[in-house]
Amino acid sequence: MIQRILFVCLGNICRSPTAEAVFDAVTGGAYDTDSAGTSDWHLGKAPYGPMQEAAGARGYDLSLLRARQITPADFARFDLILAMDGQNLADIEGLRPAGNSTPVRLMMDYGGGGGDVPDPYYTRDFDQTLDIVEAAAAGLAAALRA
Ligand code: 4NP
Repeated sequence: MIQRILFVCLGNICRSPTAEAVFDAVTGGAYDTDSAGTSDWHLGKAPYGPMQEAAGARGYDLSLLRARQITPADFARFDLILAMDGQNLADIEGLRPAGNSTPVRLMMDYGGGGGDVPDPYYTRDFDQTLDIVEAAAAGLAAALRA
């Protein structure tokens, strides 16, 4: 039974807070969710302004989220950890405590054809990221219901 889900990217100011908010919207807040970054670059910061604007235009409010860094304790606190890209996945696996078996998967394994969610901090295409995250969040919700 998967109830607690953690979304993870590099900075925790673009992709993973968006994934958290979109998934919460898709599921009506039915799951315990959070997001985190593999880096400590933006600790305590709200999501990136242009990401908040693009998400806000689709009805997702990211303004109250604050960046934090994933820790080994998160493996016990969550039932499923979703990485936004392959580098995130490798970095997350590097933190896994001995004996822990929490699944860590790529977000796009649930929609968008697999692979990496493009990082809009670099691509500047915030709507592309939203399109992909919306598809994957819907796929994830359907997979969890199945
Ligand atoms: P995110 O995007 O991992 O989707 O939050 C990034 C945000 C900031 C940086 C890199 C990626 N940065 O280099 O500061």
